[in-house]
Amino acid sequence: MRPKNSHLGAAKSAKNDEFYTTWPDIEREMNAYLEYDPDVFRGKTVLCPCDDPEWSNFAKFFALHFTDFGLKKLISTSYAPDSNPAKVDYQPTLFELESPAFDATKTRANGKKFTLEAKDVNGDGAINIDDLQWEYLEGDGDFRSREVTALRDEADFVITNPPFSLFRQFMTWVIGGGRKFSVIGSNNAITYNEVFPHIMANELWKGATANSTDMVFGVPKGAKVTEADRLKAAKLGYPSDADRDYTRLGNACWFTNIDHGRRHEPLQLMTEADNVRYSKHKEVRGVGYPPYDNFDAIEVPFVDAIPSDFDGMMGVPITFLDRYNPDQFEIVGSSEGDYPQSKVYKGKQKVVDGVPTKSHTGSYACYVRVDEFGPGTYFDVGYPVKRIYKRLFIRRKVNR
Ligand SMILES: C[S@@+](CC[C@H](N)C(=O)[O-])C[C@H]1O[C@@H](n2cnc3c(N)ncnc32)[C@H](O)[C@@H]1O
Repeated sequence: MRPKNSHLGAAKSAKNDEFYTTWPDIEREMNAYLEYDPDVFRGKTVLCPCDDPEWSNFAKFFALHFTDFGLKKLISTSYAPDSNPAKVDYQPTLFELESPAFDATKTRANGKKFTLEAKDVNGDGAINIDDLQWEYLEGDGDFRSREVTALRDEADFVITNPPFSLFRQFMTWVIGGGRKFSVIGSNNAITYNEVFPHIMANELWKGATANSTDMVFGVPKGAKVTEADRLKAAKLGYPSDADRDYTRLGNACWFTNIDHGRRHEPLQLMTEADNVRYSKHKEVRGVGYPPYDNFDAIEVPFVDAIPSDFDGMMGVPITFLDRYNPDQFEIVGSSEGDYPQSKVYKGKQKVVDGVPTKSHTGSYACYVRVDEFGPGTYFDVGYPVKRIYKRLFIRRKVNR
């Protein structure tokens, strides 16, 4: 029997999966692909898994634009309420209840498949959401099922906001299909093993939008939302309504392999000498770029302080990916264990305000050597060093 706690844990993480994407967030990102290639979706099949046009915006968005995007086919699949611990109070919609295909058992136990093709089914002269056909899937609509995987393989594009708790599995599944995709995830996923090697290989990149702005998500009524996030969402135009509450996430972003113009804009940067002279950052101005003690690279604490003429390896914050232009730089690794350290410490002791403390110090990180243990947090590796947050290692490509 499954221990009670693991069931509660499953319900809790599944509740965190019920984040519904807002229309403007989808529109902004898709528009960036269309701006770069107006025919990007022409003649193509789009699959929106982990979705449901009865309550989500992805399929609605593509149904509305079916004709102007020139789509061949739109497929959306939903996940069975019985398989989803977050759907305890599930009720079928009127749309489903009133349909001749309604089945009182399948509505809970099976996923659904919604399909729109270039056929004016209701004869109103337009192809839109009203022409969407639906049926129950044989299984529960799990994206990993044979059935939904076959739909992935039929599609040219897979576009959705997948369950956060299964993000790693979803990335493996979607990348494994070899299709174009665009999915919402968290910035923290950048260094995942399922993601980062593909970023390095230039097979996957950040989307064009929402990189430095909040994304607002609908959540089921009564879901736990902090007051600060509720207020922020309301300020961004999403006060609670009859159907949903709203929250915002500061670190949500898109991961895609669909090209967009943003990744072809070069970062405008100053030379190393000019940064040392004029940088707006006090950490760089008059200071320069210290080498790491344990990696063969220099520390660049801000993306806009990357020196334009430095030929060696540089450690940069992961926000670099929001501005990454693969013609300008190459990414060679990260401080998370996939790039060789030039020095591995035998042991590290944390020192806070000069006082050695007991603490877990983590195995991966960049360290910069300093002169002495002063106020603040240091590590003693036989001499004082300061720990630097997650870094990506990059090298410039142009004019080398
Ligand atoms: C983050 S929500 C996003 C919903 C919708 N795509 C949107 O953006 O509004 C993820 C959805 O995936 C569904 N889900 C959870 N586990 C799943 C699985 N194993 N297979 C397919 N869908 C799943 C959940 O029911 C949830 O509604």
